[in-house]
Amino acid sequence: MPVNLKGRSFLTLKDFTPEEIRYLLDLSRDLKAKKRAGIKGELLRRKNIVLIFDKASTRTRCSFECACWDEGGNATFLTNSQMGKKESVEDTAKVLGRMYDGIQYRGFSQKLVEDLARFSGVPVWNGLTDEDHPTQILADLLTIEERTAKPLSKCKLVYCGDARNNMGNALMIGCAKMGMSFVALAPKELWPNEKLTAEMKAVAAKTGGSIEFYSIEDADKALKGADALYTDVWVSMGEEAKFEERIKQLEKYRVTMDFMRRTGNPDCLFLHCLPAFHDTETDVGKDILKKHGLKEMEVEDAVFRHKNSVVFDEAENRLHTIKAVMVATIGDL
Ligand code: CP
Ligand code: NVA
Repeated sequence: MPVNLKGRSFLTLKDFTPEEIRYLLDLSRDLKAKKRAGIKGELLRRKNIVLIFDKASTRTRCSFECACWDEGGNATFLTNSQMGKKESVEDTAKVLGRMYDGIQYRGFSQKLVEDLARFSGVPVWNGLTDEDHPTQILADLLTIEERTAKPLSKCKLVYCGDARNNMGNALMIGCAKMGMSFVALAPKELWPNEKLTAEMKAVAAKTGGSIEFYSIEDADKALKGADALYTDVWVSMGEEAKFEERIKQLEKYRVTMDFMRRTGNPDCLFLHCLPAFHDTETDVGKDILKKHGLKEMEVEDAVFRHKNSVVFDEAENRLHTIKAVMVATIGDL
């Protein structure tokens, strides 16, 4: 059966089959080549999209806006709306669904993005919640495919750090779906929740993937043979009070040149969804240096700037993959 995603929301990769994810990755590649060739598209012509951000963003917002413009659509960045203050999510969704062809939401609860999809009647795209970050995973998978000689199903990805945050969950889901080996190297209390893990282990059993968790005592086992090391911030948006606790829990889990060497793979890639604390060139970085004496948090600057670091490819691929999601769900393909 040919893949057809018209009218579908994109809330989590759990809702998508491996064939559908493959389709989105192939479409992303095609759209990337098209943009590189300087071809202006019309696949979103006369489509209106609205972007709601209850949390900060650089890549996700810019990707949605640029992707929309590249294909001839119109984007509204909605600030200071009534939603949740004077108007319910249900009523807001019904209003937006009358005006827009698609809605992007970034915020806290997964239920909110699900409710927008339920009540608006138009595709809703999850631009990050506390639980999930599915558009990021498409960009990560595309980047690994572009930079690795093997198929995804032969790749081992090791996620180091806070493995129960949105990125830990979303990577576990994406890897399981694509038959990859997913390893979380994290303290036990920061492993993904048991329900999601059981669901994804069942998916991996079907796709030929695997899911394993290790803590620092078994780092050699976890790192050996990795094709990609991945990390994310130790404190996600909305958890800012947790810096001290997380630094204590995660200091040994920083991605270092030593970790890279222990993979035994000189071509091992380094990935990070960004933004990253790899130096003290940010307000938070300066504050952490002052309060905790750390110049780097989740990744060493040397790893971040290493030739195997593909973090800016990932960032660019947000554009192409988000474009693919919009084109597939509301576009004139
Ligand atoms: N990776 C990511 O989602 O970046 P932003 O927070 O800048 O959108
Ligand atoms: N876990 C991070 C991801 C940022 C893209 C956060 O939620 O802040």
